[in-house]
Amino acid sequence: MGKAIQNEDYLFKKIYDNVLHRIERKEWKEDEKLPSVRQLASEMNVHRLTVLKAYQLLKQHDKVYVKDKSGYFVQSTVSKNLEYLNQENPIISAYVKKNHLSEIHQPSFSYHFSQALIDPNLLPNHYFSDYVKEVFDLYPKVLATYSTVQGDLELRETLTQYFINQYKTHLSADDLLITSGSQQAIHLVAQAFIKPRDVVLLERPSYSAAIDIFSAQGAQIVTVDIHPEGYDLEQVEYYIKQYKPRLFYLNPTFHNPTGYTVSIEQRKKLVELAEHYRFLLIEDDAYHDIYFDEAPPPPIYTYDSAGTVIYIRSFCKYISPGLRIATVICPSSLMKSLLTEKSLADNGSPLLNQKIFLHYFSSLRLQQHLEKIRIALQIRKEIMEEELAVTGWRWISPKGGLNLWVQLPDDVPTELLLSKSIEQSISFVPGQVCDPLKQLSSWIRLSYSYANEKQLSEGVKKLVTVAQSLSK
Ligand SMILES: Cc1ncc(COP(=O)(O)O)c(C=O)c1O
Repeated sequence: MGKAIQNEDYLFKKIYDNVLHRIERKEWKEDEKLPSVRQLASEMNVHRLTVLKAYQLLKQHDKVYVKDKSGYFVQSTVSKNLEYLNQENPIISAYVKKNHLSEIHQPSFSYHFSQALIDPNLLPNHYFSDYVKEVFDLYPKVLATYSTVQGDLELRETLTQYFINQYKTHLSADDLLITSGSQQAIHLVAQAFIKPRDVVLLERPSYSAAIDIFSAQGAQIVTVDIHPEGYDLEQVEYYIKQYKPRLFYLNPTFHNPTGYTVSIEQRKKLVELAEHYRFLLIEDDAYHDIYFDEAPPPPIYTYDSAGTVIYIRSFCKYISPGLRIATVICPSSLMKSLLTEKSLADNGSPLLNQKIFLHYFSSLRLQQHLEKIRIALQIRKEIMEEELAVTGWRWISPKGGLNLWVQLPDDVPTELLLSKSIEQSISFVPGQVCDPLKQLSSWIRLSYSYANEKQLSEGVKKLVTVAQSLSK
């Protein structure tokens, strides 16, 4: 019985995804009639009720509409866009793009559980003035010079040596590109490798800004569920054969928002799939060093010998978000395209930031800092978990990263919880924002890294009280 329900659930999602992708691929145009429930059920070899359920959910999500008795039709977006264009500037309006996370982060809150950022009090701020002075002494013209587009050679050499020491892989400074944060790297990848209607695989849930970046580029997004033990690789292979994606963007280490980490076996298998079916793996590794007990497995790129992985490593979270330093390790055949995009974006990241970062990164302080920050974050995570223990809400305790991915009971309406929490100056990220399909409405992401211990304890208590007052 349990298996049958699971199977039905899987099929229903498959139909939902399939119809959505076909609509997005314009196989059926706006206001065009979709196949009848009976036709699609026989085409896909499933029960009619499964198709009906998928159509109903598509209707609920405004992707299709029903015309009396004549069936389901593709929703038109024209009227909505016109509405938007008429809104403000009568001469020209911007094209509609969204960054869902930045909209949530805008106001300031007393209990900030929406920011996957580390409390500035835990970062090595006061040391930076030493490095700024050192950098100006060593490079008096640093502000009078551009960096190279690829990034400061001294920094790339230092990082190359760091990666070689860590993973014993063959690497040269030419394989590295310095970007202004990993978010810019994702953006450059999307610009360089994705054209409208190309298929991109994304984890579900996923890092919200990545969803927005690939969507804004016009990609057809196919979702791969991420579980505590990783992906269903049979499902991944099925999607690869079916949709022929250009790339799979993934965050396999202390994944945002779930905190899950993909095993070594799956890492190796993903590289094999990418080599065999010829698509790119874009490995986003923003949380690699933020672990609690043991270090995570080596990055996927270390198993790649055929040039199928672009590896993005950010140092923003735990060294300095303000310096905006991340690096991309890119196969040489693809580097030229990324360099062109980088030169079009900003002609190279600020040299001063790269030099300050380099001097801190090469110092002994970094290791001590990392050790301290791991303990501080583990304590904060435990405080949040202790406060939530009374609720019966469900989550899997992460072994690293900055977030708890929490499932609320069905009777807690998440949207209302968010608006009521905001009234109490508490913020969190609703699950829908992290879902390329904009569902997962009973999940929320709570970051334990930005608020201090007192704020965590007070804020989570308040959040629980708000939720309890809303549950039926
Ligand atoms: C998975 C992931 N990738 C990339 C980023 C962007 O980080 P940054 O641009 O600061 O390096 C974040 C930030 O939250 C993230 O969670």
